[in-house]
Amino acid sequence: MQVLVTGGAGFIGSNFLNFSVPKYPDRRFVNVDHLGYAANLANVAEIAKRPNYAFARVDITDADAVDRLFQENTPDLVVHFAAESHVDRSIVGPRAFIRTNIEGTFNLLEACRKHWPKGRGLFHHVSTDEVYGSLGDTGAFTETTAYDPSSPYSASKAASDHLVRAYARTYGLATKITNCSNNYGPYQFPEKLIPLTILNAIDRKPLPVYGQGLNVRDWLYVEDHCAAIWAVIEGGAPGRTYNVGGNNEVRNIDVVRQICRLLAEETGAREEELGALVTYVTDRPGHDQRYAIDATRIKTELRWSPRETFETGLRSTVRWYVANKAWVDEVRSGDYRKWIATNYGSRVQP
Ligand code: NAD
Ligand code: DAU
Repeated sequence: MQVLVTGGAGFIGSNFLNFSVPKYPDRRFVNVDHLGYAANLANVAEIAKRPNYAFARVDITDADAVDRLFQENTPDLVVHFAAESHVDRSIVGPRAFIRTNIEGTFNLLEACRKHWPKGRGLFHHVSTDEVYGSLGDTGAFTETTAYDPSSPYSASKAASDHLVRAYARTYGLATKITNCSNNYGPYQFPEKLIPLTILNAIDRKPLPVYGQGLNVRDWLYVEDHCAAIWAVIEGGAPGRTYNVGGNNEVRNIDVVRQICRLLAEETGAREEELGALVTYVTDRPGHDQRYAIDATRIKTELRWSPRETFETGLRSTVRWYVANKAWVDEVRSGDYRKWIATNYGSRVQP
């Protein structure tokens, strides 16, 4: 079996490949990535020499290149991670999100339609809980919650989900979708809350918290997400959507405080010194208040459940960033510094 993994040099895609390539030696995995700012081939260095792994530098917004990829590799399975993934970047510059997340997904679906005779292939679309918009103080997203996206990022992901369902209904393409909550773990680009906080705290830089820090996210360790995707690929019903979440609802300020505590325990730093770095800054426009996932479907139908608690997953994540200074130094190069200046330079402290 040939598997195309798009976005396999990014955070979740590379964790998925590191998890899958050794586990499925009879499947050939092709990592399809254009190597954008969030990509890093060092993330997959350990599996790169395995005979069932290959890399193809392809931009999924290039329809001809996607078509050639299908001709050269004859995949049976596409696991589609490639996306512009950062909400704040989508607010500053939405165009790339429309191009990659909508047009890129469209190009892949077109290639599946063209190259897969009826009954062949599976397109697994990796999506987000942000398509459902924001929750108030109670309740959780189910698979039938109406779509109500708030940011250009989540709107582009919602559009891509709709395209995937349309291809299933109209052309009979075999598709599955997973909508997952916030991931964290090794190899996450440090623009996202958890790695940004860990690295800033190590360097004793301010820890920026949007608004009052009371927004809630439902955190899931990345390897648990990877296992959920395989559970759906192998056992999920064709055409069905599965919500994936960790049942770990935490307010942002508490995430930041927990990182300070764990970093103090792991490195001997003083927790109070790290805590004093917390800096409240201008809120994100259109900031969703709360996400929470009802994962009953995947738990009962497919017997999936997360292995990590927030405490155990966060501790390994903190350890990983402390231990991987070379990786950190490389990804925080010139472009990263430009982004930090763009996003945080204009935010003020109330
Ligand atoms: P990421 O930004 O770390 O990685 C995205 C990868 O896609 C990068 O390697 C990038 O180079 C590649 N890519 C982007 N545009 C491309 C293009 N035009 N052609 C080819 N490759 C391209 O993102 P991530 O956090 O790993 O997210 C992966 C997927 O999971 C996304 O679809 C995202 O919407 C979804 N998701 C993420 C989370 C999360 O918490 N990070 C949660 C739920 C769902
Ligand atoms: O819910 C799934 C989504 O989770 C994914 O679809 C996205 O790809 C992923 O980026 C993530 O989106 P969020 O916007 O929730 O993640 P982020 O890490 O950017 O922010 C988490 C929370 O922390 C959010 O409420 C905003 C806040 N925040 C973020 C940053 C970067 C801060 O308070 N300060 C910050 O500096």
